[in-house]
Amino acid sequence: MRIPVIAGNWKMHKTISESLDYLEAFRTVGEKNGVETVLCGPFLTLPALVEGTENSSIGIGAQNMHWEEQGAFTGEVSPSMLRDLGVPYVIVGHSERRTLFGETDESVRNKVRAALAHDLVPILCVGETIEEREDGRTQEIVRKQTVEAVQELSSKEMARVIVAYEPVWAIGTGRSATAEDAQDVVAFIRRILADQFDQQVANQVRILYGGSVKPANIDELLQMDDIDGALVGGASLDPESFGQLVDAAA
Ligand code: G3H
Repeated sequence: MRIPVIAGNWKMHKTISESLDYLEAFRTVGEKNGVETVLCGPFLTLPALVEGTENSSIGIGAQNMHWEEQGAFTGEVSPSMLRDLGVPYVIVGHSERRTLFGETDESVRNKVRAALAHDLVPILCVGETIEEREDGRTQEIVRKQTVEAVQELSSKEMARVIVAYEPVWAIGTGRSATAEDAQDVVAFIRRILADQFDQQVANQVRILYGGSVKPANIDELLQMDDIDGALVGGASLDPESFGQLVDAAA
């Protein structure tokens, strides 16, 4: 039995006071039995989010981090800094970081390993662009990104990773993948994990779908056998909408 995960990625939205207002409205709806709820805010909001969710089951996540412990890396945040703050999750390899900030498969691999070494749960994002999909290269791209990110992990480590399949063309566009298309790729990722590790590990890993998830389409996505939840951008910015998504998974 895989516990569903509904993770919100606020991206570069919300000040500290806006985050606290959000929590005020969200705390009661975000805590549901049988679902792991995660909120990933900008770095500056994380101390307030951690403090505001103390004694609650809502988990807080960062949207990125560096893989080194410390050093001359201006502007970066290390895994131990997140751990020290009490942040349990971190998004790694989001397509916006890959395309806008030059993140490579190698840096994604380093970050996944560093997150696990510091007891953080990495939410590893993979997904193809529209050109790659139209060229029939979805599986090739998803396989490469997945294998390169996880190839050095032990089975025990892999079982702790959350994977998010996010087709780039569906992010922030209002154009979600159909539930069937998302299921096909998510099942394909599970097969990759079975090949790289074993079927038991593949069955344990939570694989989410992300890309224009909203209250109107969450039910059909969650009905799919291999989809264990969602990584949500736009619809996580409003506590009521995000609460509806958590409800759908509970
Ligand atoms: O991390 C979240 C994804 O990029 C999805 O964003 O729900 O706004 O399409 P979206």
